[in-house]
Amino acid sequence: ALPVRPQVVRSPDDLRAALAGRGRVGLVPTMGYLHDGHATLMRRAREVCDVLVVSIFVNPLQFGPSEDLAAYPRDLARDLGVVEEAGVDVVFMPDVDTMYPPRFGTRVTVSGVSEGLDGASRPGHFVGVATVVLKLLNLVRPDVAFFGEKDWQQLTVLHQMVRDLNVPVEVVGLPTVRAGSGLALSSRNSYLDAQQQARAAVLSRALMAVQAAYAGGEREAAKLRQAGLDVLAQDGEVTLDYLSVVGRDMQEREVVDNDPMTRVLVAARMFGIRLIDNMPLVPA
Ligand code: PAJ
Repeated sequence: ALPVRPQVVRSPDDLRAALAGRGRVGLVPTMGYLHDGHATLMRRAREVCDVLVVSIFVNPLQFGPSEDLAAYPRDLARDLGVVEEAGVDVVFMPDVDTMYPPRFGTRVTVSGVSEGLDGASRPGHFVGVATVVLKLLNLVRPDVAFFGEKDWQQLTVLHQMVRDLNVPVEVVGLPTVRAGSGLALSSRNSYLDAQQQARAAVLSRALMAVQAAYAGGEREAAKLRQAGLDVLAQDGEVTLDYLSVVGRDMQEREVVDNDPMTRVLVAARMFGIRLIDNMPLVPA
């Protein structure tokens, strides 16, 4: 019989069987409700790997008690269409019990880079992310794993985890995919109607204003921030969590240098939904 692609597996044993002796393995971890940001990671991974695995697992450990775990959008039929289109070989979709059986008791804590920003606003979030990603890496044992810059702090935390724990995988970060309006694609955008999504593009415009000030030579973080805050103030719907200029250590700077890892990050609530975005700061 011809192999069916993608092959959907739910147990670690079936996963190992599907991957036995199959060359360079790539992994794209996701929580499903796939959009073109996810698909772009898959297409890039497809180019550089022999076997491409996508995991779809809405990880309860990374949601706070008052967050949207139960409401998190799901559409398995559509997701399978997206992964098939992207040429994915194996879709790993474990149950919660498979990942977290009774008496599961280990947590991965990455200190430093996971403490500020989203780590401060979402206690336990990055412990949940690091724990599930380490489990997925151990289950799939990929040569390379792909993540989006959309979640810049997450990418930084995972880089640090892999370095600290000598996890034998290459972590690759890929640029944020945006709608024409500038809005970063996100599964959570589906909570917003078309008009609200158009309004949410104010976040990316604020980041671009910071970029423009930086390219114009401004290096004082307070002034860079103010350029972004001025844009955010134009929309009364924005409830700001943070707008921060940070270095590669995720620490706020007072004066910004020319390190290409300098980044401006924003988190805000609009229409009841928490949205995040970030952009690099590049000298002119
Ligand atoms: P999820 O939000 O589904 O995102 C899966 C991957 O897609 C992440 O690496 C994320 O950064 C990337 N991604 C999301 N939107 C993107 C966009 N607009 N452009 C480029 N990449 C984008 O992030 C998670 O899931 C989870 O925390 C996970 C890592 C799977 C652990 O549970």
